[in-house]
Amino acid sequence: MADTWNSPDKFNREASQWDENPQRRAVALEVAKAIIAATNPKNTMSALEFGCGTGLVTMEIAPLVKSLAAIDTSREMLFVLKEKIRTSGIENIEVSSTNLSSPSESAFNEKSFDLIYSSMTLHHIDDTAGFIIRIANLLSPGGIVALADLDLEDGFFHDDPLEKVHHGFDREALTDLLKAAGLEPLSFETIYTFNKTNRSGVAAVYPVFLVTANKIENVELQHNV
Ligand SMILES: C[S@@+](CC[C@H](N)C(=O)[O-])C[C@H]1O[C@@H](n2cnc3c(N)ncnc32)[C@H](O)[C@@H]1O
Repeated sequence: MADTWNSPDKFNREASQWDENPQRRAVALEVAKAIIAATNPKNTMSALEFGCGTGLVTMEIAPLVKSLAAIDTSREMLFVLKEKIRTSGIENIEVSSTNLSSPSESAFNEKSFDLIYSSMTLHHIDDTAGFIIRIANLLSPGGIVALADLDLEDGFFHDDPLEKVHHGFDREALTDLLKAAGLEPLSFETIYTFNKTNRSGVAAVYPVFLVTANKIENVELQHNV
């Protein structure tokens, strides 16, 4: 049971079977398709994926961009991704065990990215507002952020009641956070719907959105993460 934010234990345990879940593969494929359609990745672009997991989205985006930094806090998830990279021959992915939501993390302080994206990871990060400011500061001027996650949910999506997560996001509130970070929201769309029997035994639907926003000017904001 993960009763603290940023505990990699659950993902370390699940990593070797992660890709066996058909809904996980399906949502990742739809997220990748939607990111590609909305952001038009190019072979001149440097990209960052936070919470890349086993690379279900990474492996779709990497062939389209110049370079991709794939980061995650679970070493076992990254181990699976590294195996995929090794067998695929794709050479432009740099994998690292990095927690960007940690105030002491400085790995990317000197870098900037044209595209920063994630799939189903934002709800695992405690300080959403601070984290969005942090990624906004890592964007190149004109860069684009694309975040796929759950709409506000009933609190029963995750199987472990003690797991520290946000129960999805309110679209208006997330739009406000993007604007507060100096980003201009471009689109908000529903790209997938989970159909699952939730923790309370009810057959429920959980929509997944993709929001995109770009950096209109080179603003540097204070962040408190
Ligand atoms: C629900 S999984 C999604 C994995 C992958 N994006 C996918 O679609 O299959 C969330 C991932 O975010 C990672 N994660 C959670 N908190 C993180 C943080 N602060 N920084 C980086 N990765 C994080 C977890 O280790 C996990 O691999």
